[in-house]
Amino acid sequence: MITPITGFSKLKKEEKIDWLLKTYLKDSPASENILKQYWNKNDTVQQLHEEFTENTLSNFYLPFGIAPNFLINGKLMAIPMATEESSVIAAASKAAKFWQNRGGFKVNVLNTTKNGQVHFIYIGDHDKLNDFFKITKPALLNSVSEITKNMRKRGGGVLDIELVDKTDLVDGYFQLHCTFETKDSMGANFINSCLEKFADTLKVEVNNYQEFNEEEKQLEVIMSILSNYVPECMVKVEVACPVSELYDDNHISHEAFAEKFLTAIKIAEVEPYRAVTHNKGIMNGIDAVVLATGNDFRAVEAGIHAYACKDGSYSSLTHASVENGVFKFWMEIPLALGTVGGLTNLHPLVKVALEILQKPSARELMEIVAVAGLAQNFAAVKSLVTNGIQQGHMKMHLMNILNSQNASPDEKEELLHYFKKHTVTHSSVAEQLERIRN
Ligand code: MEV
Repeated sequence: MITPITGFSKLKKEEKIDWLLKTYLKDSPASENILKQYWNKNDTVQQLHEEFTENTLSNFYLPFGIAPNFLINGKLMAIPMATEESSVIAAASKAAKFWQNRGGFKVNVLNTTKNGQVHFIYIGDHDKLNDFFKITKPALLNSVSEITKNMRKRGGGVLDIELVDKTDLVDGYFQLHCTFETKDSMGANFINSCLEKFADTLKVEVNNYQEFNEEEKQLEVIMSILSNYVPECMVKVEVACPVSELYDDNHISHEAFAEKFLTAIKIAEVEPYRAVTHNKGIMNGIDAVVLATGNDFRAVEAGIHAYACKDGSYSSLTHASVENGVFKFWMEIPLALGTVGGLTNLHPLVKVALEILQKPSARELMEIVAVAGLAQNFAAVKSLVTNGIQQGHMKMHLMNILNSQNASPDEKEELLHYFKKHTVTHSSVAEQLERIRN
């Protein structure tokens, strides 16, 4: 029987591994080897990774690749991507090349305001609370002057604080809705520090406010936290070309392709089952760049999916039109990213990724990430409405299957050749391997 362990976090890494091996891995030397095999040979790099988080035993690798030939606002860029999914980088590269000859991607940041809330409960006279807020707002803003000093030097800081009445949703629920400009940093720590200070100041000022009765002075702060929903931190990306240049294969006419493409987008706009998968494909591109550049992909995912529901039903993030013979394909998404602070200054591969991108500002990174999302969606929908995705996907997936079957280099070479002309499935690869081995 397994007994709970106390003080686990205090153990040394080797002791943690020993405990794990004994408790859950039947003392398997193979598991131990694998855990240790992924340690970085360079002790400094290893320690750096261990200190990113807690209870680290090993490192978890993801492939780090590159999609070249992205023409973005007239500039040719190679986009670094960290992803385990086969076809993602190939699809991005294909879309990049396709649009490179058709004017490239036009992208611009619409705004960069981030936000957070102090959520509190106040039972009392609403007019009194409004008066209190008007009088107290300068003190609230003043209370964070030390925290915001450096950010203000960089042109950022607190933009505004509003009192919002949410009592129609929860009894006594109000919030301080606070907006921020965080320039090149993602700003999570900055925003949360400001919000917690606002909450402390709020409590002090409430206590000192003579007009409140005892019940009103019981105003209770529930929590203070940034929001990952950032609909005022938006980027718009677009591609366009004459319908006559839209398709590069003669299996289907340009017009029929455009029509089918538009219908696929319309379906994703109105049908949530399809929209989720459609947007997942967009996130294949977005997450890969967000990860490679050391940003928080969970925050980005949460914010983008919330935005996809902004009209009351989950819908496509991309849209398309044909007008006067011109095909247009575009997307607007919220993105809160940073190119300074956090992992960006620490993770050696992240630093290289940012160098590949020519050390972008946060605004430029928003543009690049949005481009990767639109490119990925274009490639996916293009495949879906023509050949389907499995043909290309299974070719890319072939190597994964061969590796999972421990194929030797010679076997791989033979089967890569064989499957150029045959359909890849798990069982067909297994059959062919068996044929060679026998
Ligand atoms: C697979 O990871 C992503 C796709 O399913 C996206 C889509 O269906 O649009 C191909």
